Amino acid sequence: MTTETTPTTTEPETVLTVEDLRITFSRGGRRIHAVNGLSYELKAGRMLAIIGESGSGKSVSVRALMGLLPPSAFITGSARLGDVELVGKSDKSMRSIRGRDIAMVFQDPSRSLNPTMSVGAQITEALRTQTDLGKKEAEARAVELLKLVRLPAAERRFHEYPHQLSGGMRQRVMIAIALAADPKVLIADEATTALDVTTQAQIMELLADLQHRLGTAVIMISHDLGLAASYADEVMVMYAGQAVEHAETETLFQNVRMPYTKALLGAIPQLSTPSHSLLTVIGGHPPDLSALPAGCPFAPRCPKATDACDEAPELKEHEPGHLYACWNPVAKEDSALFGGRALPLDETLEPVDDEDRTLDAVHSLPEHEPIEALNDLNEEKAL
Ligand SMILES: Nc1ncnc2c1ncn2[C@@H]1O[C@H](COP(=O)(O)OP(=O)(O)OP(=O)(O)O)[C@@H](O)[C@H]1O
Ligand code: SF4
Ligand SMILES: [Mg+2]
Repeated sequence: MTTETTPTTTEPETVLTVEDLRITFSRGGRRIHAVNGLSYELKAGRMLAIIGESGSGKSVSVRALMGLLPPSAFITGSARLGDVELVGKSDKSMRSIRGRDIAMVFQDPSRSLNPTMSVGAQITEALRTQTDLGKKEAEARAVELLKLVRLPAAERRFHEYPHQLSGGMRQRVMIAIALAADPKVLIADEATTALDVTTQAQIMELLADLQHRLGTAVIMISHDLGLAASYADEVMVMYAGQAVEHAETETLFQNVRMPYTKALLGAIPQLSTPSHSLLTVIGGHPPDLSALPAGCPFAPRCPKATDACDEAPELKEHEPGHLYACWNPVAKEDSALFGGRALPLDETLEPVDDEDRTLDAVHSLPEHEPIEALNDLNEEKAL
């Protein structure tokens, strides 16, 4: 007799739960409402892209999670890392969480690295601060981390100083430092913006690979919507400190419902557009965050605004897995952009042999599929 077993699929754990996060700055007697009721969840091994115009609150919302806002910031609501509440934590408690459970990679690695210390010493120091490793073990692990982030010739580079590395290599070192304590959540705020297009794609490939193999949840913030569309599992669009649309990447790009998202995505050039066509621009200006309108904040710029928009729409799941905040959403027939995937940068890189894979040496990592599109040799030429 055979016993039939039903295959069980384990749902990835929710690592981050943000609920009604509000952040206000006091400046010159004014209250600047930078984040206004932000809510989302992030599961292990997922990449969330946060997109939106400059000043929409992307960086402030993630810096709050890291405890990196100045004292002039007043934060309410909740942000839980697992079951640990981050809002209201003291600086001292945040220091023991920051880097350990949640880590961040910034835009400019040269400003984050110490120019007077070798990169190996900097990773070793991060490991010694955040783990129980002794000096020798930490040094060995630092080399492993440099291999993990695919820094070519890791043993040699260990002894080099930041100025001896290219921008892409420095960003890899920053990612290695961020991964030192195996954080549950890795935040990359414009982490590829300062890099050339090829290196940007390589760093994104690296983040996506780490996300899949280590199960790290990644929040990527980028002005490059093509990168977001190519790599993120889900996309959240922010406007005036609020999430206005949030869905799986394919769903969002195939079925944009929020007029602001459509305007934002319509403002990027597309390969299918005839050359010399005028770019669509989003008319008007983002709202003054110290005097937000009572209704939908996008109303003064929205071609679909009606009287109903005098009342603020809530972010709701109007369609399965697709949240948006709008009274008059974009019609289905007008909503497809890019045919689902935008500017697949990774596919522009030539597939190459996978010669110099040193990743298997990295301890405690699960089996992995090599990334097809890149190899370290290519990288060394490109960086
Ligand atoms: N320290 C501060 N004091 C006062 N206001 C601030 C401070 N930091 C940010 N803000 C306000 O918060 C708003 C949101 O800033 P944030 O840096 O999150 O924007 P962003 O979406 O990351 O923009 P960008 O794409 O340009 O990086 C800004 O418009 C600014 O007015
Ligand atoms: S709620 Fe109204 S103003 Fe706001 S985006 Fe929708 S249609 Fe435009
Ligand atoms: Mg920012």
